[in-house]
Amino acid sequence: MDNLDIMKREKVLEILKKYNSQDSDFIHFLESEAVMRELAKKIELKDEEVNYWAIIGLIHDIDWGLTKNDVQTHLKKAPEILKKEGFSEEFIETVISHGYGCEEIPHLRDKKRTKRIEHALAASETITGLIHAYALMRGKKIEDMDYKGLKKKFKDKSFAAKVNREIIKECEKVGLSLDDFFKISIEGIKKIKNQVGLE
Ligand SMILES: [Fe+2]
Repeated sequence: MDNLDIMKREKVLEILKKYNSQDSDFIHFLESEAVMRELAKKIELKDEEVNYWAIIGLIHDIDWGLTKNDVQTHLKKAPEILKKEGFSEEFIETVISHGYGCEEIPHLRDKKRTKRIEHALAASETITGLIHAYALMRGKKIEDMDYKGLKKKFKDKSFAAKVNREIIKECEKVGLSLDDFFKISIEGIKKIKNQVGLE
């Protein structure tokens, strides 16, 4: 287990700010954290694990600020950074797993996710893109967003076309139906709506 200090939210935000500066990226980090936290609660993990899942969500793209102009290198710098900051091998591996199977990242293309937390992270960080785009389409409103509307957008492949629907479906490997995952994810992001420019 990672030492407790490193698992504190303020500490993690501090680390993120060392390598990332764009507000829009922080929106994605915060939304991923919120979905992971909500998901961990809904599957009734213990408080300590809920925090662990949330922190993984928050920091999963730690090297994005350094690699986004050359996506092929995304998650290449992350292990080194996270190790230096004191995270465990297991934590680091989970972070990196959200890039497994990704065509644009050659060094991770042939790897496969196997653990529940890995599927949870991949599905959670991916659904944030769909929900945020849908909220913007609705005039930034998430408060009254219904999962059925989100489901329609999920099925409409031309909407937020870059959002990989197959990865969102990995929620089933966490033991959740797509409908339940839509509900949980909306619920999670609603709780932080003011921090991510939504209403
Ligand atoms: Fe991400």
